[in-house]
Amino acid sequence: MELPFAESWKIKMVEPIRKSTREEREQWMKEAYYNVFQLRSDQVYIDLITDSGTGAMSDRQWAAMMMGDESYAGASSFFNLKETITRLTGFEFIIPTHQGRAAENVLFSYLVHEGDIIPGNSHFDTTKGHIEGRKAIALDCTIDEAKNTQLEIPFKGNVDCTKLEKALEDFGDRIPFIIVTITNNTAGGQPVSMQNLREVRVLAQKYNKPVLFDSARFAENAYFIKIREEGYADKSIKEITHEMFSLADGMTMSAKKDGIVNMGGFIATRLQDWYDGAKGYCVQYEGYLTYGGMNGRDMNALAVGLDENTEFDMLHTRIHQVEYLAQKLDEYGIPYQRPAGGHAIFVDASKILTHVPKEEFPAQTLTVELFLEAGIRGCEIGYILADRDPATRENRFGGLDLLRLAIPRRVYTDNHMNVVAVALKNVFDRRENITRGMHIAWEAPLMRHFTVKLERL
Ligand code: F0G
Repeated sequence: MELPFAESWKIKMVEPIRKSTREEREQWMKEAYYNVFQLRSDQVYIDLITDSGTGAMSDRQWAAMMMGDESYAGASSFFNLKETITRLTGFEFIIPTHQGRAAENVLFSYLVHEGDIIPGNSHFDTTKGHIEGRKAIALDCTIDEAKNTQLEIPFKGNVDCTKLEKALEDFGDRIPFIIVTITNNTAGGQPVSMQNLREVRVLAQKYNKPVLFDSARFAENAYFIKIREEGYADKSIKEITHEMFSLADGMTMSAKKDGIVNMGGFIATRLQDWYDGAKGYCVQYEGYLTYGGMNGRDMNALAVGLDENTEFDMLHTRIHQVEYLAQKLDEYGIPYQRPAGGHAIFVDASKILTHVPKEEFPAQTLTVELFLEAGIRGCEIGYILADRDPATRENRFGGLDLLRLAIPRRVYTDNHMNVVAVALKNVFDRRENITRGMHIAWEAPLMRHFTVKLERL
């Protein structure tokens, strides 16, 4: 008999978590104005608000922290990190930053100017923010298939090269670079194929534009290429990683995801020009060049984390868990963005709470219902997050309305996933009785989802 699957690690340290009663949760949710960002973490039983900075470090990472070099300039920890990044990506120039958005801020301060257009596949919120904040345009060239949650294709995060080429033709001079997000978070943690990265590269060369990868979940992307793309089954994750980055000129990285650290990020590039341009902004916004926004100990832990998480077994364990949750949802007939993504399941609220009008925010309503059901905290990636149109001030109802269940790395067991699935099933089973949603009582002009105050209708 074939041995069953099991995790590629064992647990050395644990953190107790606590269940609550429905009455407690009703009270807490009300006090939090039906906004899960306003909950205290000790009010949460299973926390799936994000996979960012919430992973569990390994014993080797903790050991590396003890060897951190906190020298202001030229710390050995910086060179450990730089050597690891260069070995994995081929990029020679490294700038550490305190997280992913800081890497964007430093690099875009040099690269993005008013009136520019930056085409890519579903820019992440902060990426878009750093572009729009500079009065430039983030042009989404994701494939249309990504919008159909029930369509099952292997690389649903891909760039639509026809849209990209049209952008390059129409706005050539205004495009400083092309950005590709691997994996594509906004489209559901969906991967981008090597073939697609190659096609983007060909276009970039044709129009003489550099390519930047937003690489927060590059290792998960490499895993999907190995599993799903022809010709990669026998290549190691590290070989695939190297090949992916050979098709880019640089990367911004939120190390809080695939670096498995709680805080950190970096810019890496092969372009002297980008490095020289970004350097000054690093010193201005983050810190001196050999620590940027990071402690020496954290750079050490990140170097180990990057190495560990580009090994097949680690990624297999991780993606297996996401797929395990997806299988449970399949059993119960709960619709989500198919196939399961790398870091999360994106539940399609508009297909579940069909009686809740979009003006009453179905995905937010589902997020609240799941918390009330079992103390599970997901996160709305839908109409509230989409904010209002800057010109018309109307709510943006054009995109998908999803509940994201993001799974931290090496933190929860499959038993926790069973609880999540059954809790969601219980809400799903009474979906016909949920006919009213939420009303916005107060909102900030931008990034409203963090602080929005809601009332239950
Ligand atoms: N790029 C992507 C694709 C991301 O998913 C994130 C963060 C960032 C950049 C910014 O990185 O948080 O380190 O500043 N995503 C988190 C999430 C917040 O929950 O998906 P950061």
